Amino acid sequence: MLSLSVTAGDAVYDIHISPGVWEASAEALARWRGRRAAVVADSNTAPLFRPRMAAALTASGITPTLLTVPAGEASKCHAQLLSLYTGFLDMALTRADLVVALGGGVVGDLAGYAAATYLRGVPLLQAPTTLLAQVDSSVGGKVAVNLPQGKNLVGAFCQPALVLIDPDTLRTLDARQLGAGLGEVIKYGCIADAALFAQLEAAGSRAALASMLPDIVCRCCRIKAGYVARDPLDFGPRMELNFGHTLGHALENALGYGALLHGEAVCLGMLAAARWGEAAGVTPPGTSARIRALLTALGLPTDAPPVPPEALARAAKLDKKAAGDTVQLVLLSGIGRAVLRPTSRAQLAAWLREEARACG
Ligand code: GLY
Repeated sequence: MLSLSVTAGDAVYDIHISPGVWEASAEALARWRGRRAAVVADSNTAPLFRPRMAAALTASGITPTLLTVPAGEASKCHAQLLSLYTGFLDMALTRADLVVALGGGVVGDLAGYAAATYLRGVPLLQAPTTLLAQVDSSVGGKVAVNLPQGKNLVGAFCQPALVLIDPDTLRTLDARQLGAGLGEVIKYGCIADAALFAQLEAAGSRAALASMLPDIVCRCCRIKAGYVARDPLDFGPRMELNFGHTLGHALENALGYGALLHGEAVCLGMLAAARWGEAAGVTPPGTSARIRALLTALGLPTDAPPVPPEALARAAKLDKKAAGDTVQLVLLSGIGRAVLRPTSRAQLAAWLREEARACG
């Protein structure tokens, strides 16, 4: 089993990565104070994983109650949050018990926000089943729901009590979902790990990467744990994890949630940020071409669907990394090295107009 520990302010917790890790954690779960678990899954993950998770919890002496939400980004909303609170009330969940987030990023964020706020906090076990959730959203404590105006606008920091990653769950992902996770893996290579980027380039295809995924997941979690330890509340270096997210979030918002998966939008955002960095003289020429070649080799999007320029500009105004007239852009000073660059909103607007023109 691959294991690592995350420190985030006062919180310290483990990530365990291995096939069968839910069952292998029975002893640790048997020592849990509470005897009930609300297992939150979506309509895709519930039939696939609920029986296994329920059996693992039951073997630990914990009684699971399944709460299901519809699959998709639209579930990260206050209506579904309310339905989870109602489920928690019905099962008499207490602060000694557990909320288990069993699924991808949507389930993790929604169940996590419910756990953070119900009774002012119920312990959270993250059991991510998508690549994106395994390498990013299940680690570091960001939980949120969307508002109609934008993504993740209401949220909290709620570090999980434990993260259990079973790489075998990735076998159930369709090509698009797996690709969205690979986008986030490439992001880690871009911002912090040139050797990982080179490993992905050398693999050159998804098929060649398949057997490397458990190690790659662990490597990404280790990078993320480093950022979280240095900056648990996201006021400084942790913002580098948002490489590709300025355009990515704006595209998701402008096109309507679901048109692009989050990881797909990040691919397009990384490419744009590399181009912007080259234009600003921060990023060495040729970097965006290298990123484009890797995205293409791994079957990831390199061209955005048509989007109205005003919609893109409006969406970018919601960027959470903005302060006054300045936006913190994450650029690259090379593959494996991110830098935060304060950029005027006027400059960003000009670049966004160009992006909108380019996707025609
Ligand atoms: N997903 C970015 C972060 O956790 O900071």
